[in-house]
Amino acid sequence: AAADKGGWSSFMAKEISEEPEAVANTIRGRVKDGQVVIPELDGLDELFSGITRVIIIACGTAAYAGQVGKYAIEQWARVPVDVELAHEFRYRDPVIGDDTLIVSISQSGETMDTLMAVKYARERGAKTLSICNTQGATIPRESDAIVYTHAGPEVAVASTKAFVAQITALYLLGLHVGRVRGSLGATEAAQHVLELESIPDKIRQILEDEQGHIEQLAHWMADTRSVLFLGRHVGYPIAMEGALKLKELAYIHAEGFAAGELKHGPIALIEPGQPVFVIVPSPRGSAVLHPKVVSTIEEIRARGARVIAIAEAGDAAVLPYADEVLRIPLAGPLFEPLLAVVPLHIYAMGLSTAKGLDVDQPRNLAKSVTVE
Ligand code: G6P
Repeated sequence: AAADKGGWSSFMAKEISEEPEAVANTIRGRVKDGQVVIPELDGLDELFSGITRVIIIACGTAAYAGQVGKYAIEQWARVPVDVELAHEFRYRDPVIGDDTLIVSISQSGETMDTLMAVKYARERGAKTLSICNTQGATIPRESDAIVYTHAGPEVAVASTKAFVAQITALYLLGLHVGRVRGSLGATEAAQHVLELESIPDKIRQILEDEQGHIEQLAHWMADTRSVLFLGRHVGYPIAMEGALKLKELAYIHAEGFAAGELKHGPIALIEPGQPVFVIVPSPRGSAVLHPKVVSTIEEIRARGARVIAIAEAGDAAVLPYADEVLRIPLAGPLFEPLLAVVPLHIYAMGLSTAKGLDVDQPRNLAKSVTVE
């Protein structure tokens, strides 16, 4: 199947290289006169107008995409959003009804836990919308509405390009619902559309400028036994995604934490030499959070942590405390996750490769888990 990889060393290498197209193709056909109009949702306004809450359900990487989407949907559509793991949601008698919109996210559209949660919610009268990468899969067929991600087929077991496509679809959904519910003005929405449309080129820039550097860093760290990831706001789910990828691909113990939670426990884990990735919010876009994250970096560095900062180009505040800085281009605060995750995907792949592991087929995992 070397031909299918199109010259790449692995499907994962190919799929990470396709992250720009995954975003661009998911946006395509869904912007009209600078506003998001999702043709598949035509005539389905009642799915969004009468609801009082949204619950996103998913498993694995898709659930982290959901956690990122929560921030944008709440901000733009002014509706409360919860994110739940599908297998937890179903077995706890959730309070749902016809005022609830369930948004499921699944690359395969076949994950049994997610499917069963969607059916369960439907039986209880909730409205259901599926974000899915696979045309005609079971979960979209069981849902009232579908927004497909157009990442193209994903072969590597651990999800990469589908993740950025899922966040893109959630952002499009947030902008669509914000318009339908009248909570988001056209001028502001148009700004966000421009931001989203600029993401593919910015991801390309990360791949061009940083991929070699990150792979080398991963190579140097091949003996690492534990890695921590810190983020705040939309950077928090990205920290968890970075940790998940490292567990999946490199079999390394990894944890993602909310940076603000550090002093409430995880800081006890910091000892000299402990590698910690920190996702640094934009100094312009997050004037409040940026200095807080920088002081977190200062604190862990004082305890001997080896800090790898993922920071916006030009952000000099991190330089005195970071051992390594991985640069991402400027983006609005809500859009940073689509950039910050790219170095983490490359890093996990690089570490797996440095350890001589099968990056496409990690042990014990399946691409699509069709049993409960
Ligand atoms: C499996 C895969 C993960 C994926 C999860 C959800 O566990 O190994 O990479 O995130 O399933 O899959 P789905 O197809 O529902 O997005």
